[in-house]
Amino acid sequence: MKATIMATTAFDTFDEHHGSSALMSDEEIVARIFDHIDNGTTDRGKSSWREPAQNYQSAERLDAELALLRKRWVVFCPSVALSRSGDYIARDAAGTPLIVVRGNDGQVRGFRNACRHRGVQVAKGQGCTSVFVCPYHGWSYGNDGSLRSVPHNDGFPGLDKENRGLVAVECLEKSGLIFVKQDADSKDRKDQPDLPDLIPEGHRVIKSETLEIEANWKLHLESSLEGYHIRSTHQTTFFPVQYDNLTVVESFGQNNRIAFPYQTIEGLRDKPRSTWSTNGRLTYVYHLFPNVVVSTFPDCMQVVVLEPLGLELTRQHMFLLANCGDKGDALDAILKGQEFAKMGAIEDREVVLGAQRGLKAGANEFLEFGLFESAIGRFHEALTGELEDAV
Ligand code: FES
Ligand SMILES: [Fe+2]
Repeated sequence: MKATIMATTAFDTFDEHHGSSALMSDEEIVARIFDHIDNGTTDRGKSSWREPAQNYQSAERLDAELALLRKRWVVFCPSVALSRSGDYIARDAAGTPLIVVRGNDGQVRGFRNACRHRGVQVAKGQGCTSVFVCPYHGWSYGNDGSLRSVPHNDGFPGLDKENRGLVAVECLEKSGLIFVKQDADSKDRKDQPDLPDLIPEGHRVIKSETLEIEANWKLHLESSLEGYHIRSTHQTTFFPVQYDNLTVVESFGQNNRIAFPYQTIEGLRDKPRSTWSTNGRLTYVYHLFPNVVVSTFPDCMQVVVLEPLGLELTRQHMFLLANCGDKGDALDAILKGQEFAKMGAIEDREVVLGAQRGLKAGANEFLEFGLFESAIGRFHEALTGELEDAV
């Protein structure tokens, strides 16, 4: 089946309140939320988006998406996941085994995770080391990628150690995140990601986990980008403390920010506007195009990277960040709060798996994203645009 990489509806997400690419201030966000609460409204796009069902089912389309992920600067992990010299994470990104490691000089570097002898991966999972030793024959590499030692070196006459270090991929640290760009020749239009500082000072990783879900990565992503499902999907979890279909949606570049207010925001009504802070009164979901979601919670935040493994399989890498000590009440309270968030995540997973099965039902030629689901329309529009540009 050939993929249809075409939108069926022209899409224009934002009304006049959203013309600026700058994100609104806390005060503006709160004022807008009060406006919506008082009028029973929410942010709306100007038109809906119809995404062809084939775009979730075509191997050709997935290949093109993976190629895009290799071509662009893509978030690999938060900076604080590699806080010490020698900290590394080895994982596949867009189908490529990579290692990202902070060297002894403090600089973060990315490498293709393949020994320069016969290609075996020199690192697995995460850890901290000054040397990577290949498990096959024991070639070893410094955490700057240089080839350090070759057992029985005399078996390799003419081996130029200087040029047989691990193969580098471009890597940069910005806005509290680490990005990699695998395809060095790509002319990524936005040569460097332009993002606000997303990770506040003092945050560290208090938990990280990897989870696989048997659904297309885009179905998974979509479940984070709208508040239209809060009442129905999260009836006994989020709905009692949030609102039915009330979000503020903003765009910056190809990225989105969606504000999901908590009912506690009402506590700001009788406070002076200049003191309005969104801290602990709403969740911001930052969608960093194409496959990363950063969410804020009252005492912590989450960075989630969605790695497409197949048309119907996604690996989710989650990093939970907070500014608290290793132990004690604060950490316990955050982890307890996450149990609540986890219940909501389980509910999301159920509906995402349902949407995946729904593709097999053959009922829909397209999935329709309405006016309240405008961030998703924007995402598909941007993705489609990038893939068309790549042809
Ligand atoms: S494949 Fe790595 S040492 Fe042989
Ligand atoms: Fe949800």
